[in-house]
Amino acid sequence: MVSEMAGYMCYLFLASLLTPQWVGAKSAAQMCVEVTTNLTYNCENLGLEEIPESLPATTKFLEFGFNFLPDLQNSAFSRLRDLVYLDLTRCEINWVHEDAFENNDDLSTLVLTGNPLIFVADTAFQGPRALKCLTLTQTGMTSVTFIPMQNLENLEILRLGSNHLSSIQLPSTFSARNLKVLDFELNAIHHITKKDIASLKQATNLSLNLKGNNIQDIEDGAFHSTTFQSLNFGGIFDVSTVLKGLQNSTTQTLWLGSFQDVDDLDISPVMLEGLCNMSVKALNMQFHHFSNSASTFQCFMGLHQLDLTHTHWKSLPSDIEGMNQLKKLVLNQNEFDNLCQINAASFPSLTHLYVKGNMHKLDLGTGCLGKLKNLQHLDLSHSKVVSHTCCNAQLRSLSHLQHLNLSNNEPQTLQGEAFGECPQLKVLDFAFTHLHTDASPSPFQNLHLLQVLNLSNCLVETSNPQLLVGLQGLQYLDLGGNPFQSGILTKDNLLHPVDSLQVLILSSCGLTALERQAFGGLGRLRYLDLQHNSLTSLGLAALSDLKETHLNLAANSIRIIPPNLLPVFSQQSIINLSHNPLDCTCSNIHFLTWYRENLHKISDPEETTCGDPPALRGVKLSSVTLSCALSAAGIFFLVLFVLMGISMFTFLIRHCIIRKYENI
Ligand SMILES: *[C@@H]1O[C@H](CO)[C@@H](O)[C@H](O)[C@H]1NC(C)=O
Ligand SMILES: *[C@@H]1O[C@H](CO)[C@@H](O)[C@H](O)[C@H]1NC(C)=O
Ligand SMILES: *[C@@H]1O[C@H](CO)[C@@H](O)[C@H](O)[C@H]1NC(C)=O
Ligand SMILES: *[C@@H]1O[C@H](CO)[C@@H](O)[C@H](O)[C@H]1NC(C)=O
Ligand SMILES: *[C@@H]1O[C@H](CO)[C@@H](O)[C@H](O)[C@H]1NC(C)=O
Ligand SMILES: *[C@@H]1O[C@H](CO)[C@@H](O)[C@H](O)[C@H]1NC(C)=O
Ligand SMILES: *[C@@H]1O[C@H](CO)[C@@H](O)[C@H](O)[C@H]1NC(C)=O
Repeated sequence: MVSEMAGYMCYLFLASLLTPQWVGAKSAAQMCVEVTTNLTYNCENLGLEEIPESLPATTKFLEFGFNFLPDLQNSAFSRLRDLVYLDLTRCEINWVHEDAFENNDDLSTLVLTGNPLIFVADTAFQGPRALKCLTLTQTGMTSVTFIPMQNLENLEILRLGSNHLSSIQLPSTFSARNLKVLDFELNAIHHITKKDIASLKQATNLSLNLKGNNIQDIEDGAFHSTTFQSLNFGGIFDVSTVLKGLQNSTTQTLWLGSFQDVDDLDISPVMLEGLCNMSVKALNMQFHHFSNSASTFQCFMGLHQLDLTHTHWKSLPSDIEGMNQLKKLVLNQNEFDNLCQINAASFPSLTHLYVKGNMHKLDLGTGCLGKLKNLQHLDLSHSKVVSHTCCNAQLRSLSHLQHLNLSNNEPQTLQGEAFGECPQLKVLDFAFTHLHTDASPSPFQNLHLLQVLNLSNCLVETSNPQLLVGLQGLQYLDLGGNPFQSGILTKDNLLHPVDSLQVLILSSCGLTALERQAFGGLGRLRYLDLQHNSLTSLGLAALSDLKETHLNLAANSIRIIPPNLLPVFSQQSIINLSHNPLDCTCSNIHFLTWYRENLHKISDPEETTCGDPPALRGVKLSSVTLSCALSAAGIFFLVLFVLMGISMFTFLIRHCIIRKYENI
């Protein structure tokens, strides 16, 4: 009793150390957050009016947004000579004086987003040897000439979005030689002239973003013989204006998509004719309406990638011709009823097909993709896919398929050898799709090359020991959210055939115990996730088969960890015990001692707290110190022994005295 009391006093003392007075004192000093020692600091939103002395001179990356620096004087940051990245978002900067960044030789990224700039001195950006990225988004700029061009010849990224610019013309003093990204998103650019584009000609691999500008005309021939990495005209009202202007240009990616709730012209085949006179590899047309005719596709012939996300197709025309180059087709969020309605035979070279988030129930039909001999990647997730028995008929002839995503669909039944048609599968994702699997043979039996199998929340028959037979190459298995019979992972469980596993997820499986040798064959396991179960330390015997594993036991019902489990914990690499009702009394002293000696193995120590006794609930395990020289029972017997001794002694004394008096 006495020693437990002492223990409690100790806890109370520790708890008092953590009271708010102490924390309060710290926040008053407006401490920047150290992200990585001596290198990265975050001082955002601290009401600072200068660079705090506490920042070390070695700081390289500094987030300093949302402070107050209306007047940037010269050499404002000269103490931080090593700065590479400086973010001054919304610091109410109006004035940037001469040589504001003098001495910041290594500064390569400067972010000035959201500062109402009134004046920027000609030599404002002088100092850095190679400023590569300059962000002047939302600075109220009305002309590019506002930017002092001295010392910007190394610039690779210039962001000028959300200003009031009406022209994209860069000053002749600006060297665009190294420019890779030029962003004019959401300005007021309505016209593009030959001169504008000529000012960019030094840049050889430019991504030009003009999204959200209401472009009304492009001078004839403005883009003639130009080459871009990407051109973004997102949100344009009439795509034919742009396509006419882009005659004879070459671009890797052309983004002409629209957005939800934007009214724009329905696209007729004539409006797309301009595409025939330019060279584009990847085209994005999301959120447009098209007329349902093969001629819509007549100028798509040279494309390698086409994105038609949310373009209201119920079926693609059956007589599309010449799309032999297309490798990747995105048909997400359309309105197909049957997979055959995409008329896949029109795109014989496809390697990647995405039909994600289909708006109608999607029937996979029979052999609809059979002509796609080179198909490697098929994504049918979130598409309300219905089928009676999956997947041989549906995937007929897809012998090169490597990646199949059928997650988040209607319930499916897998029968026999369900993937006999695609023996090359490497990744199979059925997460959140309820699966009925037959009693015995494995539906995956021929998938010897499968590496990743996601069966989370599929309600698979976990009691079927045959379920995973044949998956000898499997490295990653997610069985999270699938209940196990009576909450026990038995020793003859379904995991025995998958002995190459490196990552195993068994979170939220309702597990209360793992039988000895449940992981017997899984010698290569590197990560075992058992979060959100109801495991107690009695049910952890099976962990002794694992070595050098990252064990995640967070959010279970573990209270006391007996000494015989500690060597098992010691042989693992990382352990997460957070959110368990851990016992912080002397009954758990062996574990508590081990814990303090093995803190380097513990992940999330902040959330690894005591659940018992009540006085310590929520206190971090690492800050608990107990002295448990004697157990409570020991003390009880000791006290009893002493009391008995005393009474015996008094009895004897009394006896002697009485005898003595009798003798008188
Ligand atoms: C941080 O800088 C101080 C002073 O230069 C140095 O003593 C310390 O070792 C550095 N720490 C790290 C982690 O680099
Ligand atoms: C052009 O830019 C893209 C992306 O910005 C990059 O992936 C590509 O390697 C660049 N090409 C050349 C030739 O520099
Ligand atoms: C495009 O280039 C070709 C030859 O390269 C030329 O014949 C044609 O006139 C050009 N068209 C335009 C619109 O500049
Ligand atoms: C495409 O170019 C040809 C010749 O270069 C020209 O006759 C035709 O009008 C151009 N098409 C469009 C839509 O500009
Ligand atoms: C399958 O699709 C879902 C939803 O679109 C996505 O979250 C998941 O990452 C995909 N799976 C794989 C293996 O890429
Ligand atoms: C299934 O697991 C794989 C592998 O980690 C992952 O890439 C994928 O996103 C997961 N699927 C879903 C729907 O979360
Ligand atoms: C430990 O588990 C908790 C609870 O699930 C989780 O939030 C945390 O990210 C985990 N820690 C690590 C380092 O994975």
